[in-house]
Amino acid sequence: MGYPRCDQTVAWSALSGHFEAHGRDLDLRQVFADNPGRVQRLGIQAPEVFADLSRVHWDVATMHHLLDLARECGLEARRDALLSGEVVNQTEGRAVLHTALRAPRGAAPHSEQVHEVLDRMLAFVERVRMTAGGTAPGQITDVVNIGIGGSDLGPQMVVPALDAYVHPGLNFHFVSNADGQDLASVLRKVRPDHTLFVVASKTFTTQETMANAQAARQWFLDQGGKDIARHFVATTTNVELAAAFGISQTFGFWDWVGGRFSMWSAIGLPIALALGSSNFHAMLAGAHAMDEHFAHAPLKANLPMLLGLMDVWYRNFKGYTSRCVAPYHHGLRRLPAYLQQLVMESNGKGVDACGEPLPYATSDVLWGEPGTNGQHAFFQMLHQGTDVIPVEFLLVKHASYRAPSAMTPAMLTLLGQQHHVLLANGLAQAQALMWGKSAEDALQEHVPTASKDMAPEAIAKHRTFPGNRPSLTMLLDEVTPRSLGALVALYEHRTFVSGALWGINSFDQWGVELGKALCKDLLPRLTSGDTSGLDAATAAMIARLR
Ligand code: F6P
Repeated sequence: MGYPRCDQTVAWSALSGHFEAHGRDLDLRQVFADNPGRVQRLGIQAPEVFADLSRVHWDVATMHHLLDLARECGLEARRDALLSGEVVNQTEGRAVLHTALRAPRGAAPHSEQVHEVLDRMLAFVERVRMTAGGTAPGQITDVVNIGIGGSDLGPQMVVPALDAYVHPGLNFHFVSNADGQDLASVLRKVRPDHTLFVVASKTFTTQETMANAQAARQWFLDQGGKDIARHFVATTTNVELAAAFGISQTFGFWDWVGGRFSMWSAIGLPIALALGSSNFHAMLAGAHAMDEHFAHAPLKANLPMLLGLMDVWYRNFKGYTSRCVAPYHHGLRRLPAYLQQLVMESNGKGVDACGEPLPYATSDVLWGEPGTNGQHAFFQMLHQGTDVIPVEFLLVKHASYRAPSAMTPAMLTLLGQQHHVLLANGLAQAQALMWGKSAEDALQEHVPTASKDMAPEAIAKHRTFPGNRPSLTMLLDEVTPRSLGALVALYEHRTFVSGALWGINSFDQWGVELGKALCKDLLPRLTSGDTSGLDAATAAMIARLR
């Protein structure tokens, strides 16, 4: 579209100057002291998600320069091109329209086909749910989703996150790994007459999924299962291959839905089975509300835009190589894994849209664990390690989980207190990261566990926290289908924004191809032992493995 690459703009040069003058040594404690209104100014309300960006390593001037960068790079026009269905995935010649999957009828491209499949899928869902948990043959108690990557991670993340909404008669299982242990451990728990297998694959050619699907079908027949048509459904763009596999009940989607953006499509079937139609619609509506915010909010109040700009600032100026996502909500425990594919498969690229090598860094490494568990594992390094790693805290005001039956008032009180324990921990970590602790303060403290053989001054050095470690806090009122939809859409758009600024195609994934091709060559060699033409390390390892 003729917009300059980020590093070839006037704003980039201005940012570089600003970084040298103020950005490199920015101290959060100082900027808070200098700007009493910082918290108010940097609190951004988007649909369902409030974000406190005050503990981000930036100041108002940084944000001005970043917004200039967005304008100079034509970010709003690029966003509009994405949303209107232009071919923005050039290397595959495709539009990218996951937003159309959650738009109301008639409001986006391809509306008719989207709503035809959605209606058909939700009618199927309601039929299954009507008798789910029953004991008569054919009544479903267990849903096994067989898929990998984008055909697994969304449903696998959403179903536990919305546990409170899940049909009580249904258990959900997710099988993805080529390792047969994954499938075997699930098959031990289910019965053929009461199980619905969902074979989820955009291409219907993915090696792991096909292997697991074939094994599941064999198990079903071996166990006396009779009605494959009733117990196996497919969610795919490749209806022909699904039919060739023997599956007649198929819910389709289209090549303009990227795998990692597909939980809103038929790939969301396990989500819909778990939550029911109206909750699935609510999830779509939450995502659509975020789409509208992304499409229309002014740049300076547009949360996905601001976060994407922050990602570029962090990666290319502050030099941060990773970010930690810490959801303080047990249900969101699979969110970091989901976001890993979204962010790293999208933006882990080293060439621009024309194939020219990039002279700057792109995707960071995203990782994380739910709080408070992470605090007892890797937070030590976040507080006192030599690398600065920005942390994203996700806090949820009201707990929402399915409580055990017959709760006494005493039990209710205890669980309520636990939610405050959770929230206080999240707040405390952000505080500790930013404020740290000086050696002088450490020296004043009485530490019964400290060695008596070391000088208190030396101990105090170990108990010092540098502080000035950045974080951002996102707050949801409650984890509901609507708010989760909005949260995921926020991360999707943010990923697009940083990718667009870097000038890369965030929608292809050629980097996974090479390993797949080499695997095809190696597979028969494990049986035959033929190592001719292989490199020495691989040949030696094959010899050991046989
Ligand atoms: O890992 C590569 C990838 O193509 C992902 O992008 C995709 O989500 C996953 O494989 C699964 O692909 P499919 O849905 O076609 O089985």
